Amino acid sequence: MTTRAPFLRETYGGYQHREVPAEDAEITRVGPGTPCGEWMRRYWVPVAYERDLGDLPKRIRILGENLVIYKDKQGTIGLLELHCSHRGSSLEFGIIEERGIKCCYHGWKYDYDGTILDTPGEPEDSTLKDRLCHGAYPTRVHLGIVFAYMGPPELIPPLPVYDTFQLPDVEYYLMERYVFPCNWLQVKENCMDPAHLYFLHTTVSAVQFKEDLAIESEMDFMEVPTGGMIYVDTRRLGDRAWVRIADYIPPFIHQFLLNPPGERQPMKHAERTHWSVPVDDTHTMFVGLARLKDGEEPPTGIEFGQTDDRAYEERQRVPGDYDAQVTQRPIARHGLEHLGSTDRGIIMLRNLVRRSIRQVQNGVAPERPLSALEISVPTFSSSTLLPLAPSPTPAEDRQLLRETGRRVAEEIVRERTA
Ligand code: FES
Ligand SMILES: [Fe+2]
Repeated sequence: MTTRAPFLRETYGGYQHREVPAEDAEITRVGPGTPCGEWMRRYWVPVAYERDLGDLPKRIRILGENLVIYKDKQGTIGLLELHCSHRGSSLEFGIIEERGIKCCYHGWKYDYDGTILDTPGEPEDSTLKDRLCHGAYPTRVHLGIVFAYMGPPELIPPLPVYDTFQLPDVEYYLMERYVFPCNWLQVKENCMDPAHLYFLHTTVSAVQFKEDLAIESEMDFMEVPTGGMIYVDTRRLGDRAWVRIADYIPPFIHQFLLNPPGERQPMKHAERTHWSVPVDDTHTMFVGLARLKDGEEPPTGIEFGQTDDRAYEERQRVPGDYDAQVTQRPIARHGLEHLGSTDRGIIMLRNLVRRSIRQVQNGVAPERPLSALEISVPTFSSSTLLPLAPSPTPAEDRQLLRETGRRVAEEIVRERTA
């Protein structure tokens, strides 16, 4: 558990902070054998887009492991340990064959599941290739995303198909991937931090969101029966209430709707699904699935503020998510934080993650919807606009908004899990 830095009660107290507490390793470190890494390895992880697998193998790094991914000429995708089982050359320089991939150094050839198909330098009667396997992970492709399962083979779960993965009359679009140079948890925490919407994205960077989002909201958070949590963000718009709900689906996913009401008819479900995939302890890959309706244009390029490729001064004047999250340090130090009332979502998310990690440590299956492949798992992102006369005082009105938000959320959860 994290040790805490002293709570400074006096001015000019920097000296008391010269010891920096360690990171909260239990919920941040993702490498092989770590508690959080083992938990994450019980889920399907998006590792690549199928469209990016061409005639050359790709070197990738996921959960601190170096891997190679390729599609052979028969169209089979393989995800293998990067280093050749013979003497370790990187298979990113391998040759993709009709079936499998051949190491460039001495020609050992591997199939998608780690079967060694050929060891050309060995004598005819060598049985080495029949006795030995190369490290490999199973993959599945869904909506153009290659998912990998990197956990214990005997515990492989079905690939969950969420309701948002099979909506009618919707075009699916894979958004450009990019990497944040920081730990996965601080990136994912952002999804249960609706307070940052009306500060970072409206007050500081007024360009980013529409006025309706800049109205202060009543925030609420709930765990849901499918193993994740939601935020319920309720605003007053004249004589109506606007209830926005967004999902966190452990470990990697969050979902939300985009536009304030009035711009156009909102979709019934999330318009975006974002995965935060740990590359390693201090790098996190964004994978995004957009849903487009009625011939809507797909999002072009990487969204504003998600990289550092703007002039430094411009980033200082108009910072974005990248600048806020990456600078929480490579791995945020919880022992230096002072959580306030807007951080209830963060605390719930950390508790949920920690509880799930400990379950896996204790040999219990993680909380995840164990749906059969073809049964979709309900999710709860939504946007609801309903008539609601204001209460006489601001305090009473905030109370009313909060109760209304909770009622709407409970109804949606009940409806969608029925
Ligand atoms: S190192 Fe790969 S075949 Fe020798
Ligand atoms: Fe943001």
